[in-house]
Amino acid sequence: MQFSVTTSTLDKPRAGIRAAGIHHKRKLAAGATVLDAARDGEITALVKAGEMDGEAGSRLLLPAGGSKGNALLIGLGAKKDFDARAARKAAQTLAAALVERPATSAVIAVADFQPRGKDIAWVVHTLVAAISDAAYRFTPFKGKEKTTPVKLDKIQLGVERTEADAAKRACSEAAAIATGVNRAKDLGNTPPNVCYPESLADTAREMAKQHKKLKATVLDEKDLEKLGAGAILAVGKGSERPPRLIAMEYSGGKKDDAPVVLVGKGITFDTGGISLKPGAEMDEMKYDMCGAASVFGVIEACCELELPINVVGVITSAENMPDGRATRPGDIITTLSGQTVEILNTDAEGRLVLADALTWVERYKPKAVIDIATLTGACIIALGHQGAAVLGNNERLAKSLLAAGEETGDRAWQLPLWPEYQEQLKSNFADMANIGGRPAGTITAACFLSRYTEDYTWAHVDIAGVAWKSGKEKGATGRPVPMLMRYLLDQA
Ligand code: BES
Ligand code: MN
Ligand code: ZN
Repeated sequence: MQFSVTTSTLDKPRAGIRAAGIHHKRKLAAGATVLDAARDGEITALVKAGEMDGEAGSRLLLPAGGSKGNALLIGLGAKKDFDARAARKAAQTLAAALVERPATSAVIAVADFQPRGKDIAWVVHTLVAAISDAAYRFTPFKGKEKTTPVKLDKIQLGVERTEADAAKRACSEAAAIATGVNRAKDLGNTPPNVCYPESLADTAREMAKQHKKLKATVLDEKDLEKLGAGAILAVGKGSERPPRLIAMEYSGGKKDDAPVVLVGKGITFDTGGISLKPGAEMDEMKYDMCGAASVFGVIEACCELELPINVVGVITSAENMPDGRATRPGDIITTLSGQTVEILNTDAEGRLVLADALTWVERYKPKAVIDIATLTGACIIALGHQGAAVLGNNERLAKSLLAAGEETGDRAWQLPLWPEYQEQLKSNFADMANIGGRPAGTITAACFLSRYTEDYTWAHVDIAGVAWKSGKEKGATGRPVPMLMRYLLDQA
């Protein structure tokens, strides 16, 4: 999908679809007024006749008559209620209408979709994200005749001349973020017989080949053994596909600028190990590498935007399988940090692979470390599928992530990391246990991680509820790439 900015009025560009908005009670927004004039008042007439009254979620397509060109009208709801949430909904309605048409191009009256209190950059981001999201298809494993391809390919964002520069900047940012989101979706949706630790390593190597400022390093199981990364190895032991630690160093800033380090959980399939999960919906545990997928997405977007900061993406990847060689409940392992862990449940494996990665990244003397993980089912119980959970040891970092989430609609909510919760991790035999019982499962998982992150500014993002959708619309969402990119753009 190609996105660009145009300053010519809506009746000028030759595009397949011209989209504008109408507020509830038949109030034509600016773009709709232009289209109305181009169509000799036909829109006003249709609206008067009750064909469309601007209700939120509604839409009306007027086919092209002669030289007039068509018009796609999107209901915006009441003007007084047109806030960011309503604008986002309108963008989704618009996006759905655009991708189901056979036209290959569209021009949009951007200002029609701009809510009060938000600038042009925000609307551009919102429109691009919504359209790219609606146009996403995952088809590598389907026969050609089994898919209806999206025809839409070229989107022009129509803005006022005075807003053009800001809109253009936002447009390239948003397009790069969309590329990153799509990368994260593709990796997440790829089946676990095709997506495994070494294949993720290959993806990193390929990305590094394509981008000058990106370097990829892969530690294989032998390297991990030499290093003493006992936790990653313990999780990978039951699998035929050995674990990997993958580092992608993006150097867009000055040589000595401390990097932001992103650490992604990359469990390419989580059976639970010897503490085997129930069978129902176990296929969805292919999504247990969505934290890693989001890190790939962010790194790709940074490369595309040539962001002037240093960012390191680290993927800690293993397949959690039951086997004669698998780690058992009761085993005690030694992590890279030297701390020992009594494994009480082999299904709490994400925190283990993260522990070693979080120790390993100390070498970067990071400005901040953010780990992203589908870590706990408890997170879905706490926040459902609306928001991710954020926890950490630095209020400012946590608040920046929450703000970035709010701005992009890729939301998160903070949970406390009070020291009292740490007691739940006590072990009779090792420095800590890997589980903390049923109460506050998301928090005790973060408590576990906090024991490996004391030397730097750190936040943990639990994306168990937001990384993918179940049911009829099953698929990866690409979250939280938008939130992370907003955070990084704010740093740059
Ligand atoms: N990958 C799961 C978490 C998960 C479960 C994410 C369901 C999304 C949907 C993680 O490895 C896990 O199994 N966590 C356990 C921890 C428990 C054993 C303390 C969980 O949440 O049940
Ligand atoms: Mn698990
Ligand atoms: Zn897991």
